[in-house]
Amino acid sequence: MKATTELPADPALPALAAIRALGLARALPALELDDAPVRLELLRYHSGRRAAIEVRAGQRHFAVKICATDPSPEAAIHAALASAGLANGSDARVPPLLACDGALRVLVIGWLDGPSVAELIERGQGASAGELAANWFHRAATLDVRLGAPLGAARLLERARKWAAVVGEADPSLNDAAQALVTALARTQPDDGTPRLVNGGLYADHVLDLGHGPGVIDWGRFGQGPLELDAGIFLTTISRLGIRDASLAGEAARAEQMFLSSTAGLLDARAVAWHRAAALLRFAKRTPAARPAMLREAARFAESLQ
Ligand SMILES: Nc1ncnc2c1ncn2[C@@H]1O[C@H](COP(=O)(O)OP(=O)(O)OP(=O)(O)O)[C@@H](O)[C@H]1O
Ligand SMILES: [Mg+2]
Repeated sequence: MKATTELPADPALPALAAIRALGLARALPALELDDAPVRLELLRYHSGRRAAIEVRAGQRHFAVKICATDPSPEAAIHAALASAGLANGSDARVPPLLACDGALRVLVIGWLDGPSVAELIERGQGASAGELAANWFHRAATLDVRLGAPLGAARLLERARKWAAVVGEADPSLNDAAQALVTALARTQPDDGTPRLVNGGLYADHVLDLGHGPGVIDWGRFGQGPLELDAGIFLTTISRLGIRDASLAGEAARAEQMFLSSTAGLLDARAVAWHRAAALLRFAKRTPAARPAMLREAARFAESLQ
C-alpha cells in the first residue's frame, strides 16, 4: 500500500494536502468509501498544474484527477458524454463521473481497463490499434454534445505562432523552419466544417481497448472543432512512438495506415494533414531531442497542402 504521505506537497494542488492530511475517504466523503484499505498510486504529476492518482478501494477502482484550476468543465463533459450514451453497455465509452469537488479542485472518474493504442503498438498489434481508434472517430461523429470553447483551425493557428516562437527561442537553428511552417499553415488553413466535440488531447495513451470497443480518457483539453484536429494529434502521438524508438516505427506505420483507410470516408485528408503539421509543431515544443525530425515531418505535410 502506498502511504498517502508519499504524495507530493504542492500549494497549487490543494487536494493533495487534503488527501495527505485526512486520507482519501475523509477528504472526499462524496465517494462514500467504507473501511476497506485504500491503495493509491501517483500516475502523473505535473508540478503546480495537475496530478492523476489510481485508486483501489475494496472492489472499487477509479482515478482521482487533481487540478490547479476549476475541474467542473471536465466533470461536465464526462456527465454529458454519459448522457449521450457513452456509458456502461455502450461499445465506445468514457469514464463515468464519480465525484467533483470544486473547493479542492478534484475530479474522480471510473477506471477503464484495457491496453492503450500505444501499448497495442508496442505489442505488435498496430493494425487493430488503428482500427480501434477509427471506431472511436465514427462514434464521435454521431455525438451532439455542444460543450467547450471553439477549437478550430483559426485558434490552432494562433497557438501555432506561439509554439513556433518557443521552438525558435529554445533552438535558434530551427527558428526559420518553425516560422516557415507557420507561414505555410496560415496560407493553407482549412475550413472547419460543422463544429463537433473534440477531445483536444487524443494521445495514443488516451485511447484504450476495452475489448468491446474504444475507451477515451483525459478530457481536460476538450472543445468544439473539427474531428481532423483530434486525428492530427492522435496520428502525431503515434508517429512520435516511432521517432522515439525506431523499432516501433513499422508497427506505428501499420496503425496509421489502418486508421487512415478506416476513416477515409469520414475525415478530410487535407484537413488531417494540416492538423498533423500543427500538432507536430506543438509536440516539437516539448520534445527537444525529436524537434528536427518533427519539424521535417511537419514541413512535408505542409508542402503536400500547397
Ligand atoms: N479513468 C482512467 N482509466 C484508465 N486509465 C486512466 C484513467 N485515468 C488515468 N489513467 C491513466 O493515467 C494516465 C494519466 O492520466 P491522464 O492522462 O488523465 O492525466 P494527465 O495529467 O492529463 O496526463 P498527461 O499530461 O500525460 O496527458 C493515463 O495515460 C492512463 O494511463
Ligand atoms: Mg493525459
